Parts: sequence; structure tokens; C-alpha cells
Amino acid sequence: RQPNWIAPSILSADFARLGEDVSRVLQAGADVVHFDVMDNHYVPNLTFGPMICSALRSYGITAPVDVHLMVENVDSLIPAFAAAGASIISFHPEASKHVDRTLQLIRQHGCQAGLVFNPATPLTYLDYVLDKVDLVLLMSVNPGFGGQSFIPATLQKLQQARHIIDQSGLPIRLEIDGGVKVENIREIAEAGADTFVAGSAIFSQSDYQQVIKAMRAELAG
Ligand code: DX5
Ligand code: ZN
Repeated sequence: RQPNWIAPSILSADFARLGEDVSRVLQAGADVVHFDVMDNHYVPNLTFGPMICSALRSYGITAPVDVHLMVENVDSLIPAFAAAGASIISFHPEASKHVDRTLQLIRQHGCQAGLVFNPATPLTYLDYVLDKVDLVLLMSVNPGFGGQSFIPATLQKLQQARHIIDQSGLPIRLEIDGGVKVENIREIAEAGADTFVAGSAIFSQSDYQQVIKAMRAELAG
């Protein structure tokens, strides 16, 4: 099992002063930056692309950047995100015509590769590609927006994903995304997650450090 990571989703950050807000959340104790890319085709919302990732790197952000692609035409964005300083690139398998090829492409560009599962997407996509995956990301809301409620059926799915990862013996992270807060993070960790995306729960508060500390206290049991 990998060490726990808190991954603030910058979808809920202040876009008008993004560099400052991202440094503030990292100083407050976050481990990685969760970077939600939406194209208004795969999901009904539009955010940002590689240029913003690059701008955060130029601003001095050195933490790992965990890019969550909610886009169609996945492959064409991978070289650009790798060049922009992405550390992990995850995509939704239904959005790629050739999942195995896309996973290989991400690693060839020097990034870690992740597969993302919507609430209704079965984990069977992992069956033949587990050795090409560094991260499994389970959506606990339908992708597209921050601030939604955690879908409880994801807890059972987390247990299943944890079992698959443990059986494989591979150092794969298990990330959860959507509706994570101080109140439910312990239960989510117990179900098997080690990487916790939290957008609104962190950025809606004025004191990021207090929220992140409270989450870590829950994780420490
Ligand atoms: C939703 C995004 C999430 C989102 C999480 O499509 O993938 O990362 O920002 O936001 P909260 O934590 O507010 O549910
Ligand atoms: Zn996300």
C-alpha cells in the first residue's frame, strides 16, 4: 500500500490567482496538485489545458501534478501535458479508442499512467493492462463538476479495486475523486483508497491547513 496522499482539486481554486492559491494549498500540507481537464465533449464543462500546467511550473510549483483528463481525443494531449510538466496522466478508458496504446504512450512520455472509472464503469477494463497502470482512479461522483455528493456504492468498488491491486503485487496507487471531506475520508481509506482528491472541501474554507490537518488526523485513525 502506498503512503497516503491528499490531492486538492484545483477545479475549486481561485482561477484569477491560481499560482498563489496552488502554492498556498501546498504550503498547507497537500501532497500533489489534482488538475481537472474538461473539454465540453466528454463532460459538460470546460476548464484548462497544458498551458496552465506549464504556467504553474514556471510559477515555481514543484509538487507532482496529477492530470485527470476528462476529454475525448486523449492521445493528442499526452505529449503536450508531458512537456508542460505533468507527473501522472489519467484518462477515462471509454474516451480512448485504444486503451493499451494510450497507457503506453503516457509512459513513453515519461509520466505515470492512470485509468479512471466513472461510477458505472466496470473495473474489467483493468483485466489485461494492469502491468501498464500506475494509478487507478475511481470517480465517486459523475465527472464534470466539483461540489457533488459522494456516491456510496463507490465504497464497495474501492474494496474490489484494492483487492485487484493487492493481488497483483504491483505498486499501484488507488485514488478516489468526488465528494471527499473530513467527515467521510476515514471510511474511504478503510475501503482501500490511498490518494484522496478533495476540491470544494478544501478550497471552500479560508484555512486550508486546518482542513488538511483534520483529514490527516482522520487517516491516522
Ligand atoms: C469532477 C472532478 C473532481 C472534482 C472534485 O469531475 O474530477 O476532481 O473537482 O471536487 P469535489 O471534491 O468538490 O467533489
Ligand atoms: Zn478529478
